Order: sequence, then structure tokens, then C-alpha cells
Amino acid sequence: MATETNKFQAIISHCKEYGFIFPSSEIYDGLAAVYDYGQMGSELKKNIRDYWWKSMTQMHENIVGIDAAIFMHPTTWKASGHVDNFNDPMIDNKDSKKRYRVDHLIEGYADQLKANGDEAGAATLISKMEALQAQDDLAGLKALIEEYKIACAISGTVNWTDVRQFNLMFATEFGSTASSDDADNKVYLRPETAQGIFVNFLNVQKTGRMKVPFGIAQIGKAFRNEIVARQFIFRMREFEQMEMQFFVRPGTEGEWYEYWKEARMKWHLSLGISPDRYRFHDHVKLAHYAKAACDIEYDFPIGFKEVEGIHSRGDFDLSQHQLYSKKKMNYFDTEINQNYVPYVIETSIGLDRTVMMVLSEAYEEQDLSTAEKQDSRVVLKFPAKLAPIKLAVLPLTKKDGLPEIARQIMDNCKPHFRCFYEEKDTIGKRYRRMDALGTPFCVTIDHQTKEDNTVTIRYRDSMQQERISIDSILTLVNKEIF
Ligand code: GAP
Repeated sequence: MATETNKFQAIISHCKEYGFIFPSSEIYDGLAAVYDYGQMGSELKKNIRDYWWKSMTQMHENIVGIDAAIFMHPTTWKASGHVDNFNDPMIDNKDSKKRYRVDHLIEGYADQLKANGDEAGAATLISKMEALQAQDDLAGLKALIEEYKIACAISGTVNWTDVRQFNLMFATEFGSTASSDDADNKVYLRPETAQGIFVNFLNVQKTGRMKVPFGIAQIGKAFRNEIVARQFIFRMREFEQMEMQFFVRPGTEGEWYEYWKEARMKWHLSLGISPDRYRFHDHVKLAHYAKAACDIEYDFPIGFKEVEGIHSRGDFDLSQHQLYSKKKMNYFDTEINQNYVPYVIETSIGLDRTVMMVLSEAYEEQDLSTAEKQDSRVVLKFPAKLAPIKLAVLPLTKKDGLPEIARQIMDNCKPHFRCFYEEKDTIGKRYRRMDALGTPFCVTIDHQTKEDNTVTIRYRDSMQQERISIDSILTLVNKEIF
């Protein structure tokens, strides 16, 4: 049985074994902090994505969705503050002139300690580093490198510059003749989806005839050259965000901030997760754009960590874009006959972190041993609406016309939800495999089916079985998955 400490590793292995998540380009030994979603993971992720999208757009008449490009005009990131403020620490060796990311340098040394059998020393060093990183203590990081006498691999010396900040944005070039020092051609991979919403504020407001308060939602990839990149899909260099910017009249931002804190927590609880697995964490150190901010933290197997941020961004972003683009970002409020730049409340949740949260919540190792025999299972207790496969259709044998009946059930159900057909292995093995994939319902077609048109339905969580008529399968499953 996995303890909390090794549950995280068990989930990572399970994800790989059952086609949820693979290291990116694994045949070349992977790429740090980049992951691929497999056949099960991509379904799970899509279901979470759709659930968020529906709850934001379909369920709120005053929120619309967009899908902006990943590449944006480079001035966007100057205006948003990311060029100047979105940083992590680095250090140069004065003799070799080689530049290191501070975390890489320290982690490399910790690996050496481990290789020499000093596991505890390595863990202490990493935890000291993480504490200093959390406080942006650059002098402290340099002192740590000096304390451990960490040397440059090329010069072998400990002759270091001060620690300086390193921008987290990935840059690339536009155009066939571009060179990296050509500043005009430099474009960034967006580090957040939010800016695609801000630069489209007027387009959407005008063409959609939106009236404040209203929101614009977006789901898409974001990219960050992360320093701490050792936490599976918790911290990735390429990840997906689900963000919503809610534009409000200045002076009302306090009440809308509270509204969205409550609304977002309700959404989390609607995933069937108990309230004691969550907590709010108010930011003490605010991001460059924020006037007030909090995180919704979930109790992952690696501890309470941020899943979602709720930020009161004031008019920072729209005003900055007004300044840099010289285009007015005003809204005329007919109710009070005033022009103003709206204030913004942002809700920003990581899709990959939500996948990890849903997996952590669902993963269970159960001991099913009886006096007669040892038995156990791993089950993913996904909410039925998020499960990659909703229904498994299992003929008891490959003959006697049972597969034909099973195929008819498949044909009837698969236009409505994701079904899975399996006739290999014993029925017990097939149930276990479906448990491991988180499939909430299995129906077994046996010889009695031919007589009375009934099947055995087996419920994943309780493992209870009952006979129901074939005609009621569709209604039963449909009722549970919305
Ligand atoms: N637009 C605001 C913004 O981007 P953030 O707190 O930096 O705020 C929002 O990010 C959410 O995006 C986080 O709560 C987290 O769920 C997710 N996120 C951020 N960095 C991530 C990373 N490197 N890997 C996976 N998810 C990440």
C-alpha cells in the first residue's frame, strides 16, 4: 500500500503504465518538465477542459470565450511587465564566463552528494535552496553556493558573480533571415493566456455588445522556463491554463473578488472533492500586476499546493496596453454615463495541475483480501463526468453470439459517450483493468442475456453488481455523467 510520501511516485507510475501521461520524447530520454498525454490522459484532460469551459461560458450569460494565438506582438510583454519582471535567478563564473541557472548548479551538486551516498546532505541542500528561492533571496542563494564551495565544472573555481534574475519567457525569432540578436524579430511564447484576452478586450466588447460586468474566458498553452522542474505535471515548461478575466466597474472590484473566490471554490467542490482538501492562501508578496490575490490550494500527495489563482488586477493590464499601443481602452458605462478603463478580476487555473489534482483524489490502492485469498486493486475513482471511459462492454465469452449482442450495445451507446469493448481475459481481470482506468460502469453480456435481454452492470466504486435490462443502460449512464 502506498503511503502519502510514495503515493506521488505510485501515481506517476500508474499514469505511465495505463496510458495517461508519458515523459515527452521518451525514446530520447525525455525532456525535462515536458510531458505528453496518452490515450487515457488526453480524454481525462479534455473532459476537465470541457467541464470548466461549460461552467464558465454556457452557465454564465455574461462570459464569452476566445481562442487567441500563442504568438503575440512583442510589445505585449513589455506592456504587461513580463519582460522586466518575470524572472528567476542565475549566476556567472568569472573565470570560465559560463552562466548557470542557480537551481541547476545547486541541484547538480546535490546529485554529486547523492552519488557519494550523502542522501540526507543532498536533501538538506535542496530544501535550503527552495526556501531561499521562495523568498527571492538572491544574496542568500549566492551565500549557499559559497557555503558548499560549489565549483564551476569548466574552470573548477568558486569565483562567482552575484546572483541575478533570469527571465522565464521562452523567446524565438520570426522570419527566415532572423538572427537571435535581431530585437525586431524576437517573439515570445506566451507565459500566460491572459494577455490574449486583454489585447482583445475592445474587439470582444464591441462585436459582442458586452456590458460591464462581463468576462472573457480562454483555454490554451502557456510556456515558462521554470527553475524548479521536478514535480511531474505540477510544474511544467509547457502547460495549459484556463483563465477568465472579468471586467468590472472601478470601485466594485472588492465584491467581485469575493464573488469569484466563492464561485471558484464551488466549482472545485462540484468535482466531488471534500472541502477539507482545499484551503485559500492569501498572497503576501503580490505579483507585479496584482492589487489583491489568493490561491486555491489542494492537498496533493506532495502537500498543500496552488491549483488556481484569483487576482484583483485593477486596471493595470488595460492601462498598460493603452499606454504602449496608444489605443483607448475605455468603456462607456451607460448606466452611470461615465467613461472608464474597467478593473479586472482574474481566475486562473492550471489544466495540468487540475489533472494532477483529479488523479491524486481518485487514486486508491485497496486491500481486498479475504480469509481464503489475498487480493488487491488499484482504482481511480474519477467523478463519472470526468472519467476517460464511461462504459466498458464485456461479453463473457468470445462465442455463442455474445460478442454480437455486445457490439449492438456499443453501437447504441457510443454516439452518446466514450465506450470501450473488451473480450480478452477473464472477466475478473477485465474489471480490474477498468478499475485502473477509472471506468465507472462495466456491463457483462452472458448467456442469460440471450434469454431475458438483461446484462450485469458492475459499479466501479462499490464493486456491486446487479442485473438491468439492455434498454436501460443508456439512460442509467447518461444520468450519471452530466
Ligand atoms: N494569468 C495569471 C497567471 O498566470 P499564475 O499564478 O502564474 O497566474 C496560474 O498561474 C495557474 O497556472 C497556476 O495556479 C497553476 O495552476 C498554473 N501554472 C502556473 N505555472 C505552471 C507550470 N509551470 N506548470 C503547470 N501549471 C502551472
